[in-house]
Amino acid sequence: HHGKKCKHFLDIRDLSKKDLQDMVVLGKQMKDMQENRKYPLHPTAPLKGKNVALIFSKPSTRTRVSFEVGIRQLGGDSVVLSTDTMQIGRGETIADTARVLSRFVDAMVLRTGCTDDLLGLAELSSVPVINGLTPTSHPSQIIADIMTFEEHRGSIRGKTLAWLGDGNNVASSLIEAATQFEFTLNLATPHAFSPSQEVLDWAKANGGNINVITDPKEAVRNADAIVTDTWVSMSDSDDGKQVRLKALAPYQVNADLMKLAASDAIFLHCLPAHIGEEVTEEVFESKQSVVFDEAENRLHAHKAILIWAMMDDDWRQYGSGK
Ligand code: CP
Ligand code: NVA
Repeated sequence: HHGKKCKHFLDIRDLSKKDLQDMVVLGKQMKDMQENRKYPLHPTAPLKGKNVALIFSKPSTRTRVSFEVGIRQLGGDSVVLSTDTMQIGRGETIADTARVLSRFVDAMVLRTGCTDDLLGLAELSSVPVINGLTPTSHPSQIIADIMTFEEHRGSIRGKTLAWLGDGNNVASSLIEAATQFEFTLNLATPHAFSPSQEVLDWAKANGGNINVITDPKEAVRNADAIVTDTWVSMSDSDDGKQVRLKALAPYQVNADLMKLAASDAIFLHCLPAHIGEEVTEEVFESKQSVVFDEAENRLHAHKAILIWAMMDDDWRQYGSGK
């Protein structure tokens, strides 16, 4: 509240490579700390006395519960809010909401159907704002995804990931991550559902190794991980649903495609999944599928994001537990 510039977690591209890497390390440390001690609370309770507002204008299972539980494990408290029961739902501006909530809480997480609302909140908030998903990105998911990849396959640097299906919000954050963590990303999407050109341009200007193609087989060849997501996101209107399902059908992740990837390739999906659409039951339930580790890692990744955003420059030390 002292005019200090806040560390907002809005997009993967905003952070330095070093901070991103150290954040993933901190996420792993958070997980080890919990598993080794068989005790869920962080020993130094870094968020003691702090409150975080979790604001949702769209449904959520993983993001909501993992932030709420993660905050508690760090010794803090949260207030979970749905915008339809807030005055925002009746037209109070984001600008005023930002200035009011800043005086009550120490950080905010927002999931919104309008990217400008996230940017507006961050602009006028005097406490850190964390992106909990917008129609254009989902960066908190991607920190957990990198953590999950590295748990199973070692350092992600120099590896190849394949994204199949819709070039959506999650794909955009993965493109930014490929650039920042220096892995190759092949995206196979139909032309009508290709990833954001603005994000691709950013990746290109920043040395990203990103290949956008239309052939799913080419994309997965020798890939170390295959990643997909729903074909109909929360921000997509129901009207276009049939068109989407038809155009995206050839991009379903099935056993034949998995065979073309590296023999030890993993399957990632942020969930919720639509079995029989973007992925077959066979792949989803296979040994290669690590989707529930990925979901679990949201908890630990979120603790790392909170510590990065809310603690001082010594944030890395909270991984030691001392
Ligand atoms: N993956 C993810 O963000 O899930 P929720 O929509 O349940 O939060
Ligand atoms: N792309 C999906 C992700 C859900 C976590 C959506 O935006 O609905």
